Amino acid sequence: MAELLQIGGVTEAMKARLEAAFTVHSLEDHDPAKITHIITNGHDGVKADIMNSLPNLQAISCYGVGYDAIDVQAAKARGVVVTHTPNVLNAEVATTAVLLMLACYREILRDDSYVRDGAWETEGNAPLTRSADNQTVGILGLGRIGQAIADKLAPWNSKIIYHTRTKKDVEYTHYDNLTAMARDADVLICITPGGPSTNKIVNAEVMEALGANGTLINVSRGSVVDENALITALQTGKLGWAGLDVFEQEPKVPQALRDHPRTVLLPHVGSGTVETRAAMGKLTVDNLLQHLEDGKTLTPVPECADM
Ligand code: NAP
Ligand code: 8YV
Repeated sequence: MAELLQIGGVTEAMKARLEAAFTVHSLEDHDPAKITHIITNGHDGVKADIMNSLPNLQAISCYGVGYDAIDVQAAKARGVVVTHTPNVLNAEVATTAVLLMLACYREILRDDSYVRDGAWETEGNAPLTRSADNQTVGILGLGRIGQAIADKLAPWNSKIIYHTRTKKDVEYTHYDNLTAMARDADVLICITPGGPSTNKIVNAEVMEALGANGTLINVSRGSVVDENALITALQTGKLGWAGLDVFEQEPKVPQALRDHPRTVLLPHVGSGTVETRAAMGKLTVDNLLQHLEDGKTLTPVPECADM
């Protein structure tokens, strides 16, 4: 049987299919010379020292669409193909983005506490909130998930604008400049990949352009937003609200974000439903089994499409 290195957790369904085809090893218990395949996820990725220690590695399958934690160029240079799970999670992550936006606008956490704490009885009606209808929503990264977010916002009659490096074939207004888009937007939704090209591109200038009535939603990677600048912008009132699923040092979340009344915080669960994780798990394992069968894969990352 081929030998698989498992980095991070897998579901029971994935485990059963993996064990039928591979001898599965952990990081603590494997013979580096025998490992031909790796299963990992977007958070753990594959550290350089581990990749370098496996002379017979052939394929890495990532349980997630984002693969910024894997050095794909290093893998490709060695002939190692990297796969990921595009599309099967688009709708779920889009739901998470919309959920965070609505929670910020309608102050769901504040009003839930208002009922639970008994304030409704003692203080009377809760303060009014802001309508999420008819807002201008700037999408940073109009790819598979960005488009799904735009589609899901249709019932709220959002005006969609977007920033990407290359203009897409869509009817929405494209901005070359992120700060200029933030200036025109009520909400900025981040859904680019992580990595060097997007590192802290949502900086103090962008957040100030979004403004005191602006809402920042991040479902991309924590690295995309300058977290210290975000805290300062919220504390000084230069930015209004933040709905965050991802953070710079997960699972550590700065106390200042946890304490702030105008944040809604999730523990990186953008794709985290039973149904969507099942679809992601199936595709992650399918890629490995296909590679075992004929050396091909179903959903290689773009850089490995020719492998
Ligand atoms: P995708 O289809 O590849 O779309 C990425 C988009 O980002 C493209 O429109 C791309 O356009 C744009 N982009 C890339 N680099 C950029 C840059 N430097 N500046 C501006 N725009 C840039 O990817 P996807 O499937 O939608 O997934 C996007 C990301 O979402 C993943 O990589 C992952 O990090 C994140 N994600 C998070 C969760 C979660 O649980 N929170 C779940 C799934 C995915 P250009 O190339 O033209 O710039
Ligand atoms: C996963 C994600 O939770 O797909 C992604 O890029 O961020 C999430 O769906 C992550 O890959 C960890 O498994």
